Amino acid sequence: MSNLVLIGFMGSGKSTAGRILAARLEREFVDTDIAVEERSGKSIQRLFEEDGEAHFRELEGRVIESVCARSNQVISVGGGAILTAANVERLRRSGRVVYLRLSEEELIARTANLKGRPLLEEEDRAARVRELLAQRRDLYEASADEIVDVDAMRATEVADVVAGRLGLE
Ligand code: S3P
Repeated sequence: MSNLVLIGFMGSGKSTAGRILAARLEREFVDTDIAVEERSGKSIQRLFEEDGEAHFRELEGRVIESVCARSNQVISVGGGAILTAANVERLRRSGRVVYLRLSEEELIARTANLKGRPLLEEEDRAARVRELLAQRRDLYEASADEIVDVDAMRATEVADVVAGRLGLE
């Protein structure tokens, strides 16, 4: 069975919803950030600090390549994975891609206290979220087979809606 891939901005609940979906569908759950950390032996924070974003993106790409070679998984990818066209191609070929979309205001609220996100470590975090979202919004939408607006939803509801949208209930 093909993969179910969750994409979206940091703080959009991909990992939480992904775990619920994987348990419900009896599939393996893979979080590419965790896979990068395991492979490199460093936290994302340390990877960015010591090796830089470009190196992180390289590792992320390699993880996505190997994860996409397997099937029957629920995959949650880091918020910036869609910046690399090869990642998007691989993910789309490996299964259905679902964008968990949140409004800018909701993302600002949800990322306000998020830890371990080096790209958000700026004095004006709300402005940074707006800036990154402006760069990425179209990419998220273009990369997705399905877009689910999750602003007011709890993770269990997100899982319900995603499963329903993909006919997996
Ligand atoms: C990033 C998102 C993070 C992580 C890294 C970079 C991004 O993942 O991959 O900090 O560029 O948006 P989450 O979306 O799981 O927070």
